[in-house]
Amino acid sequence: MIATNLENRNGKLFFARTDTAELIRAFGSPLYVMDEGRIRANMRIYRDSMAAGFGGGAMPLYASKALSFKRIYEIAREEGIGIDVVSQGEIHTAERAGFPMEKAYFHSNNKTDEDIAYAMDKGVGYFVADCGEEVDAVEKEAARRGMRQKILLRLTPGIDPHTYEAVSTGKVDSKFGSAIETGQAEAITEKALGCPHIELAGFHCHVGSQVFVSDVYMRAARVMLTFIKNMKDRHGYAASELDLGGGYGVRYTEADPVIDIAKQIGSLSAFMKELCGELGIALPSVRLEPGRSIVADAGLTLYRVGSVKRIPGYKNYVSVDGGMTDNPRYALYRSRYTVLAAEKLDEKETFVCSVVGRCCESGDIIQENVSLPASIARNDILAVLTTGAYNYAMASNYNRICRLPVVMIKDGSPYVAVRRETPDDLIRNDL
Ligand code: LLP
Repeated sequence: MIATNLENRNGKLFFARTDTAELIRAFGSPLYVMDEGRIRANMRIYRDSMAAGFGGGAMPLYASKALSFKRIYEIAREEGIGIDVVSQGEIHTAERAGFPMEKAYFHSNNKTDEDIAYAMDKGVGYFVADCGEEVDAVEKEAARRGMRQKILLRLTPGIDPHTYEAVSTGKVDSKFGSAIETGQAEAITEKALGCPHIELAGFHCHVGSQVFVSDVYMRAARVMLTFIKNMKDRHGYAASELDLGGGYGVRYTEADPVIDIAKQIGSLSAFMKELCGELGIALPSVRLEPGRSIVADAGLTLYRVGSVKRIPGYKNYVSVDGGMTDNPRYALYRSRYTVLAAEKLDEKETFVCSVVGRCCESGDIIQENVSLPASIARNDILAVLTTGAYNYAMASNYNRICRLPVVMIKDGSPYVAVRRETPDDLIRNDL
C-alpha cells in the first residue's frame, strides 16, 4: 500500500485502523475520511526536524489552502506550528478555531484594501507582501491605525522546480512575487525599509508544489541567502526570517517516489548553515510552508458505485456518487490517484475502466485506466487514496451537489469534523 495508515485485512481496506466499509455505513456516502494521528505526525516531522536542523527559531507554517476547516487549525495550534492563510475565509476559520493569529502569515498575490484591514483587525502576525503596490497599501492602513505591521516580501528566485505548470510559481515570469533578476526585489526591499509603519522581517519564496527533486530547495536557498547578503552589504539590512515556501511531494500512486522529509530537512539545514558561513551572514529563522505533505496521505474519499457501463470494443465506465465536485484534480491537472475496491482487495484487478462522477459533464472524471475487480457492481465501495489535500478545499457545488462531510479518525474512533451539506444549505443565501 502507498501509505502506512492503509491495511488490507482479509480483503477489506482499513484506514487508520478503521474498516472503511463500516465508516460508509455509519456516516453515509460519499465521504471524506481523515486520519488525525497522521496529520499530527506529519506536522511533527516538520516541527521537530526543523528545530533540530535550523534551531529553535525555525517553524513550519501549515499552508491551510490544502485543507481548511476549524478542526485543522485547532490541531495546528495544539502542535505549536504556524499557518499560512490566503483569504478572509481562511483567517475567519482560523480565528474561530482559537488559532493564535500572531503565528499566521497572510499570503495572496492580490490583497484588497478590505483584506488588509480585515487581517489587521484580526491581528494577523505577518503579511507576505507580493509587490510594491502591496507594500504601499499595508503601510497606508498601518499608518491609519498608528501601528507597525510585520511583513515578509515575496520574491521570485527564478527557479523551475520541474513540477506541473499550474503549481510552478518560482519562475521570473510568475504572477507571484517580485523578481530578483529584474531588480524589482531590491527596489521593494528599499521601499519597505523606508516605510515607518512596516517592520520588514525578511523574505519569502515559493518555487512550486509536489516537488520531488531534492536540490530545488537548496537552489532556492542559495539564491535567497545570496540576496540577503547583498541587502546587508548594500543597505545594511539584516533579514531575520527566511521563508522557503511549501511543496514537498506526496505519493499518489506506487510510481511516485518515497521521500524522507526529516532527512531532506536535515540536508537542507546543513547546506544552509554552511552557505551562511561562506557568505558571512547569520542563519535567519527559517520557515517552510507545507500543505499537501501534511494532509494528503491523511485522507481518502469513499464512494458507492452506481452504474457499471461496458461499451464493447470501446471503453468501460464505473460511475460513483461523487465526482469533480469533491475531487476536481483530474479534470484540472490530470492528477493521478490510486483507486481500490474497498471490500474486494484480494480479487484480481482485471477490469480496466474510467471512474467517473455524476456531474452533467464528460470531463467529470476521477481517474482513467483504473484496474478494478471484474465483479465490480452497484453498491460496491470505492476508495480513492491520498485525497486529504486540495480536494475538500477545492470542492464545489456544481450541479447543486452537496459537499461531503469530513469524518476524522482519532485513536481508532471516528468523529464528524465537518457536517454533510444539505440542500437547505445550498439555498441559504438565495433570496
Ligand atoms: N506556500 C505557498 C505560497 C503556496 O502557494 C503553496 C501552494 C504552498 C505553500 C503549499 O504547497 P504544498 O506544500 O501544498 O505543495 N491546487 C493545486 C495546488 C496548488 C498549490 C498552490 N500553492 C493542486 O491541487 O495540486
